[in-house]
Amino acid sequence: MSELDPGRHIQKARSLSAGFSLSNITKAEPYIDNVLRLFKSRFDELSDSGAPVEFQQWFSYFAFDVLGEVTFSKSFGFVQSGSDIRNAIANTGSLVYYISIMGNYIWFHNLTLGNPLFSRLGLQPNSHIFDTCLLAVENRKNNPEVRHDMMQRWLDARASHPDRLSENDIFGAAVANIGAGAETVSATAQAVLYYLLRHPEYMKRVQSEIDAAQARGELSSLIQYHEAAKLPFLQACVSSQY
Ligand code: HEM
Repeated sequence: MSELDPGRHIQKARSLSAGFSLSNITKAEPYIDNVLRLFKSRFDELSDSGAPVEFQQWFSYFAFDVLGEVTFSKSFGFVQSGSDIRNAIANTGSLVYYISIMGNYIWFHNLTLGNPLFSRLGLQPNSHIFDTCLLAVENRKNNPEVRHDMMQRWLDARASHPDRLSENDIFGAAVANIGAGAETVSATAQAVLYYLLRHPEYMKRVQSEIDAAQARGELSSLIQYHEAAKLPFLQACVSSQY
């Protein structure tokens, strides 16, 4: 996303693609499950107290934390805290306006937020998301037990071809990945639940499908990716291929 040259864009996308393979992402499932467990207990608390559940907020907390886990093995802690830490998610909303305008006037961006002097002098606006990415990148340098997450795949790609990806490229890809992945996943999850709630007959059908598979002993207590893939009606609700 941060690349303007089409040739370099293709080259970078190729070097980064290993991180996006399904086999790589499914390795992160146990860690995504941890976020999911916490998410479920938060929903139980809200439900017990009778408080309304703001989908917009909660699904964003969830999606950002999952993206932190799969990208660099570190959740942002939004679900844990139950809040938008330092207004980080809300601020990404304002950033969209900046990007949509400055994306057309790169020369002006290069004079403002894109100016390296700004970052060197510490004048760039920082955020919980940016700071957490930076910390995660720093911490892993001294951590011998790092997981084989997306960032590790990219660092491996850099180790074999240092000319194709710089360290800055990897950091840029990690931040872009959080932005690109979290809002899309959050919006999709909200839409699936919203439309199922608006159509109780389909909600009932998807629930019956899950209950029947559970009764046959085909589901773990937290449904796994390969188990959900065998539920055709659920797949029809969540997948764009139908
Ligand atoms: C419902 C979910 C999603 C939708 C609908 C979606 C859609 C898109 C679209 C339309 C593009 C532009 C493609 C292009 O210009 O050719 C894109 C790019 C991108 N998406 Fe997604 N996306 C989703 C989820 C994700 C997730 C989960 C991640 C990360 C794990 C992600 C990471 C990216 C990245 C890094 C790019 C930029 C690729 C590049 O510059 O070559 N997206 N996405």
